[in-house]
Amino acid sequence: MIQRDDILSYIEANKDRFLEELNDLLRIPSVSADPAYKADVQRCAEVVKDRLLESGAAMAEIHSTAGHPIVYAEKIIDPSLPTVLVYGHYDVQPADPVELWDSPPFEPVIKDGKIYARGAADDKGQAYMHVKALEFMTKTNTLPCNVKFMIEGEEEVGSENLGIWVKNNKEKLSADVILISDTSIIANDTPSITVGLRGLSYVEVEVTGPNRDLHSGVYGGAVANPANTLCELIASLKDEDDRITIEGFYDDVEEVSAEDRAEMAKAPFDEEDFKRELKIGATRSENGFSPMEGTSIRPTLDVNGIWSGYIGEGAKTVLPSKAYAKISMRLVPFQSSAKITELFERHLKKIAPDYVQVKVTPHHGGEPIVIPTDFPGYLAASKAMEESFGKTPIPERSGGSIPIVALFEEVLGLKSILLGFSLNSDDIHSPNEHYGVFNYLKGIETIPLFYKHFVEAHQSA
Ligand code: BES
Ligand code: MN
Ligand code: MN
Repeated sequence: MIQRDDILSYIEANKDRFLEELNDLLRIPSVSADPAYKADVQRCAEVVKDRLLESGAAMAEIHSTAGHPIVYAEKIIDPSLPTVLVYGHYDVQPADPVELWDSPPFEPVIKDGKIYARGAADDKGQAYMHVKALEFMTKTNTLPCNVKFMIEGEEEVGSENLGIWVKNNKEKLSADVILISDTSIIANDTPSITVGLRGLSYVEVEVTGPNRDLHSGVYGGAVANPANTLCELIASLKDEDDRITIEGFYDDVEEVSAEDRAEMAKAPFDEEDFKRELKIGATRSENGFSPMEGTSIRPTLDVNGIWSGYIGEGAKTVLPSKAYAKISMRLVPFQSSAKITELFERHLKKIAPDYVQVKVTPHHGGEPIVIPTDFPGYLAASKAMEESFGKTPIPERSGGSIPIVALFEEVLGLKSILLGFSLNSDDIHSPNEHYGVFNYLKGIETIPLFYKHFVEAHQSA
């Protein structure tokens, strides 16, 4: 029988090793986006597999894909018991800009109770909590159900190969619920469970003006500058209410009821703290919606990168031939990534003036998801956090995306529990990413409690 006191004493006796093992993983630069790190990504998969075996998995294997490998492991104790399928990712975002890190991104250091390294919170630290929770349950003979692990190496580049693998391995992946720690809580004294993720449509725009770079004095005044035009086009994509002007963009957007909005507004959010922490003088959201709603129930359109012309030292006078932007649109239920990408392309082609040509290249996308709060998986997660934090967690929709979650539901028919432990201030994807030691250990404490409550819910169902 799993008991909180036993988990706490096991953690107390092993926490230095738990941290050291995580640091070993963090030293491997498993950057999925950059082919230069391919061998490191592979090596990271092998270490994850070995750790799963050492921590109690009965079998673990590496599945190669057209991209980076997937680590699969399981421990089946009794086919008549429920099965928890754990998902996580061992790949990380590039560390750039490296010069803005206070310590090297792949040399983890623990400072002020936080582990600093790329991937500390997203997602190595969070995925590894599940491996150590498995260790606790196997070493103490308390694993109450079957468990499967699927840890991938391509989440940060769109999970395309995992999608294919899942479709081809439905039987192997049969389970009762999917358990994921790759999201955040509101604060260390305010636990929350993520019940929504936004979808994503991501496009690259290329605007071409004249057939070659020109002298900005000789030609400027007669030839449109594609960098100026790109800025005008982007600026026109939002109106004075900060609503996106693409025709049909809001057609499928779920109208959240006034009651639900009032319920969501109860989650603590201090706008002054938020502004102070980000050093901004004001927030900016779609007219009629709060900042919290802007990051959860409303879609967005943002430039993620923009470049053109001369960006070296000093001044070079040039009227560039081309200008580029990478644009993300975060989507909410019931928008479709493919449809939004198509609407974007059609709209941009329609508004492009004669003096430029525009090309739109779609990148990977993903569908939004909402998770109900009234099924055994959610209730077990809520009870587990209540036990470990001493407070009932708040259900909260997050602004981030994990595209594979919608696919799990579609292909496997399984709901996911987004039981994350990081903080929004952990600087994931940014320089100085970190993860609290408190959060890491709290995760290891909470996960076995989830198993306990999940199996109890099944037995009484
Ligand atoms: N773990 C994040 C998503 C996340 C972060 C969800 C914080 C909720 C709170 C994930 O690794 C991620 O970064 N996803 C990408 C999408 C992907 C297609 C590159 C994202 O949201 O930008
Ligand atoms: Mn992640
Ligand atoms: Mn990420």
